[in-house]
Amino acid sequence: MNEGLRRMPLHGVEMGDRIGVEEVREALPPGLPWADPVCLAATDSTNRVAMEMAENGARHGTVVVADAQTAGRGRMGRRWVSPAGKNLYVSLLLRPPVPTVDAPLLALVAGVALADAVEAVGVPGSLKWPNDLYCGGRKAGGILAEMASDPDGVRHVVIGVGLNVNMEEADFPPDLRGTATSLRIRAGVVFRRVDVLARLLEAFGARYAEFVGGGFSALRDGWDRRDFLRGRRVLLRRHGVEGWGTADGLDTAGALRFLPEGGPAIESVHSGEILDFRR
Ligand code: BTN
Repeated sequence: MNEGLRRMPLHGVEMGDRIGVEEVREALPPGLPWADPVCLAATDSTNRVAMEMAENGARHGTVVVADAQTAGRGRMGRRWVSPAGKNLYVSLLLRPPVPTVDAPLLALVAGVALADAVEAVGVPGSLKWPNDLYCGGRKAGGILAEMASDPDGVRHVVIGVGLNVNMEEADFPPDLRGTATSLRIRAGVVFRRVDVLARLLEAFGARYAEFVGGGFSALRDGWDRRDFLRGRRVLLRRHGVEGWGTADGLDTAGALRFLPEGGPAIESVHSGEILDFRR
């Protein structure tokens, strides 16, 4: 449990739970590249805002946070449920000095940082390839990475993180009840969101530096020990085709090692989606 974490009494959280520039600065240790967040009461999508800011020249390390999103984007064109005052919706603008082919790995880097952050506030998390944070067998957070590149390389990457912090069971739409969870549901306490955000920004700063210095292998331990899928039977969809097989961790390039059912050999899957899983 992080020393500086203040867990809030159930009745006091709404009043003290503002995520403003001052609150973020206070909660963050000095020296991180994300000290000047853009804090919005509401927007359609923090990823859209951050991508637009990137096109207009905003600097590496720009952080966009919103209290609510009206059109939060998930992976595969899905929505991200984003009610006000409950959760974290944050996008990080990066201008990473890495080859274009390596930039998608930043989504895995963000996953490891997100798991670090929730553990720092006392909630164990595991990582479901490619971009989901699971707590107690249910999805608590997700990552949506968007990139712009040209023949000279990566122009910018936006890492969007949605983390269910103080949602209660009844706050989820019916179709998500039973598969989604939150830190509050797992821990039985209400969290001050800006503290969780600060832990995320700290963790991402550290993991990003490891990645830029040593590639994904520098932080793969952080993934491996929390790998939710390893050894499970999974239903994988890639290029529109679905098939069952066994997940066998990540390879050195961050691809999913997948042994198709009845198949002769492990395959490396660089992009796809896990539709179902069994023990
Ligand atoms: C997923 O699991 O499908 C990814 C969800 C990512 C949601 C976050 S919330 C902040 C940022 N802004 C968005 O519109 N989406 C990401």
